[in-house]
Amino acid sequence: MDNKLKILVVGSGGREHCLAWKIAQSPLVDKIYCAPGNGGTSLVAENIDIEASDVDSLLEFALKERIGLTVVGPEAPLVLGIVDKFNSKGLKVFGPDKELALLEGSKIFSKKIMEKFRIPTAAFEIFDDCRAAYEYVKSASMPIVIKADGLAAGKGVIIAASVDEAKQAIDLIMVKKKFGASGDRVIIEECLEGEEASMLVITDGKNILPLASSQDHKRVLDGDCGPNTGGMGAYSPAPIVNDIVYKRTIDKVFKPLIAGLNNEGRPYRGVLYAGLMIKDDEPLVLEFNVRFGDPETQAVLPKLNSDLAEVMLAVSEGRLQTTELDWDSRTCLCVVLASGGYPGSYDKGKEIKGLSAVKVLEDIYVFHAGTKQKTKNTNPDKEFITNGGRVLGVVSLAKSIKEAQNKVYSAVEIIHFENMHYRKDIGDKALITRDSD
Ligand code: AMP
Ligand code: GLY
Repeated sequence: MDNKLKILVVGSGGREHCLAWKIAQSPLVDKIYCAPGNGGTSLVAENIDIEASDVDSLLEFALKERIGLTVVGPEAPLVLGIVDKFNSKGLKVFGPDKELALLEGSKIFSKKIMEKFRIPTAAFEIFDDCRAAYEYVKSASMPIVIKADGLAAGKGVIIAASVDEAKQAIDLIMVKKKFGASGDRVIIEECLEGEEASMLVITDGKNILPLASSQDHKRVLDGDCGPNTGGMGAYSPAPIVNDIVYKRTIDKVFKPLIAGLNNEGRPYRGVLYAGLMIKDDEPLVLEFNVRFGDPETQAVLPKLNSDLAEVMLAVSEGRLQTTELDWDSRTCLCVVLASGGYPGSYDKGKEIKGLSAVKVLEDIYVFHAGTKQKTKNTNPDKEFITNGGRVLGVVSLAKSIKEAQNKVYSAVEIIHFENMHYRKDIGDKALITRDSD
């Protein structure tokens, strides 16, 4: 076919390896670049040495290479306005513009939109003055949640069990400026109970294509203990998102938001991620993200049979006509292998062993995050070393959660790098509650 597309994937995590891997399956696609990419993306794309937040250099590259579609992984370039800049030069990008990227970039913007379109979420107050915030928590019921307004690398949310803890959180964010200007304002909100899950939709501003539900595991240790991480594993679908919850999320969250924004003449284009707290089949929105989740993507995209590149192109052109995506009905489960010390400090450069043995296993995929090639070469038996906190995502597709768990953990046994650690209980929550098999 003529006019095949060149695609640029922006980012360097497991999510971006998975996106590039899925996009590479499309007959519409000729070549994929990844900026800056990782060891894994070098297997399906050409890595380009440009950082994800260097929007001007990305633009220069995309113009020079005549990129047909740019797919943005992380939130930072979206908040910096990569979509507006690329569009102004006639380049297509999958993602929301700078203003709507604030749905993730500013928790206050996001809450105000939720309030406006009556989207179910925790009750909240906004403060730009720490004394007023201290005063408020004195008479508030505990626990309570304190959130920095702006981006804080996933660390700007503190759940305070007492008035003292709440004051310390306000102090850390607003006075000590732990997250810089992101803490100029805070949200103080009601602490919700329930089980968390992620629901994502792809939209061109009018039409909505829901993705399979998923569940992340943010804490570093088994049993949801220890500090928060970027995500230690995920599975899809999430049994907590039953048919009722799924329908309520579409009807009460996504439809009013997407239609409301479109009616105001600011259509949201791209993928929209709702982090939900679910109790008694009622979903409440904890946060919106304006991008795919990591590691949720690694547990969702292997289930997708449809052509992702085609869907993304349609979104970027505002002509999403497909009404349904085609899904593999099996369960997909991803376990993240991390460097010793993560989410604290860790060493890099550890040799990764066992990847070629795992590659031949049926229905097992390995997505790289913090890896790089040991030596730059074109040898198909590339060797990799660790280069980040989250190193690999090992993924399996199977008929049940139990089977997916067994397959992933057998594959994990084959992989090794010094001081590797991972959670041994990814999938247990789904098993306890409602695995139907
Ligand atoms: P956020 O970045 O707003 O999603 O917050 C990060 C994490 O903090 C969430 O995944 C929840 O585990 C927790 N969290 C945020 N808001 C609340 C809330 N209102 N009630 C309980 N937990 C929350
Ligand atoms: N896994 C959580 C996120 O991508 O925000």
